[in-house]
Amino acid sequence: MNRDEELRYKAYQEIELHKDIVERDPHRQHYHVVPPVGLLNDPNGFIQWKGTYHLFFQWMPFDTTHGAKYWGHYSSTDLVNWSLEPIALAPSNWYDKNGCYSGSAVAHNGKMKLFYTGNVKDEQNNRETYQCLATSEDGIEFSKQGVVIELPEGYTAHFRDPKVWQHEGSWYMVIGAQTTEEEGCVVLYESPDLEKWECKGQIAGPAHGDNLGYMWECPDMFALEDKDVLLFSPQGVKADGVLYNNAHQSGYMVGQMDYHHSRFHGSSFVEIDRGFDFYAPQTTLDDHGRRIMFGWMSVPDDQEAHHPTINYRWIHCMTVPRELQLCNSKVYQTPIEELKQLREEPTTIANINLANQQYVWPSELDCASEIEIGLNNTEEMTSFELELFDCITLSYNQHDREFSLYRNSLIHDEKESRSCHLSSGLQSMRLFVDASSIEVFVNDGEEVFSARIFPSHTNQDMAVRSEGTVNVDITSWTLKQE
Ligand code: FRU
Repeated sequence: MNRDEELRYKAYQEIELHKDIVERDPHRQHYHVVPPVGLLNDPNGFIQWKGTYHLFFQWMPFDTTHGAKYWGHYSSTDLVNWSLEPIALAPSNWYDKNGCYSGSAVAHNGKMKLFYTGNVKDEQNNRETYQCLATSEDGIEFSKQGVVIELPEGYTAHFRDPKVWQHEGSWYMVIGAQTTEEEGCVVLYESPDLEKWECKGQIAGPAHGDNLGYMWECPDMFALEDKDVLLFSPQGVKADGVLYNNAHQSGYMVGQMDYHHSRFHGSSFVEIDRGFDFYAPQTTLDDHGRRIMFGWMSVPDDQEAHHPTINYRWIHCMTVPRELQLCNSKVYQTPIEELKQLREEPTTIANINLANQQYVWPSELDCASEIEIGLNNTEEMTSFELELFDCITLSYNQHDREFSLYRNSLIHDEKESRSCHLSSGLQSMRLFVDASSIEVFVNDGEEVFSARIFPSHTNQDMAVRSEGTVNVDITSWTLKQE
């Protein structure tokens, strides 16, 4: 066996060995993408290729901690039902021996091409970074073509996560980087053929005095309506009131990419998700012209060691796929339409008049559920609250228009919260609940909160209450579980 075969063999053994225990976990997700075993982080190489969606993921098969990452691989025809494919990349070469780190996929001349970062560390823990290419004829087996870009001057070895796209006949790549002055930024490359790459320099970075951290990971650049969006995950942004309270952030700038001068002119940075667990998102444009995003439903932080799923030898998952749209220069997110195929029969109760009291939903909610809540006649409402499974509270305060999600902390025995401001008040919520997560789409995706939760499931109740009067419509669906 050569090194590559050996690494693959060991990872497959790991799946075989632990598949029963993984499936026994009551917190194993029902309809979110999860690792077969081990740790999953960033979505990689997300593409619709010859009609089929491919979603690769950063994968550590041997442990529930980070390490020399593989690229795991799922495929799907509907973005809802996923099949595990053979391992796409294993960290087997001198240029990726400490990890086949994040990257992207493009279609070219009938082939699928993956661009990823080869992570290398020597005995003294010094880091080297290489941008690498792997190609495939069938979208299943990939052959590594080696290094296509070496580290340019002016940057530290924190230079990674190539995202490639085509624009007016040329190929472009953005890379997440850290300057030698230890500021985060995005670097652009251009290529006529996906093989020879020319560095066009830094297209975005912090302006003087910006609180945008020391390293920008996982950049993505795409056109949305008549604008361009630069999506990235900066590390080292300092908390500022209700903003930037996670260990690392993910967000975007909306503007215009000036391809002639290699410069992105963008707005200020906006968090794309307001919850606890969202990082390193990646998008693709599908055959229907939709811009679809997956995020990693976690953040690299000290909570990871407290996830109860590690006792069942797996950790982390993806968010549901979300379609992005631009509305008044703000990115809105909608769970993709296909997720409706998971819905069983609905339970609807319309026209609940709440006036300073509580209403308890009459049927027990399943741990895989979707819930839609519409609020009408809110003029006299001063606050609204929803409580779920004894472990989640969503609350809205009309006075300062603040919406918050509270959950039980994974580390200490207390509630913790994330909040944001809703400029035009609260009109609706759409909740996607799975065995160990909740995603809340507020006001048709104006804001989204993603959080991992680990309910005991002894209480399957949902209650809503208000101060002042409001009229509420609620529909819930149990979602199909495989
Ligand atoms: C983001 C990240 C990327 C890197 C990958 C390694 O979560 O740190 O920058 O490529 O994870 O797994």
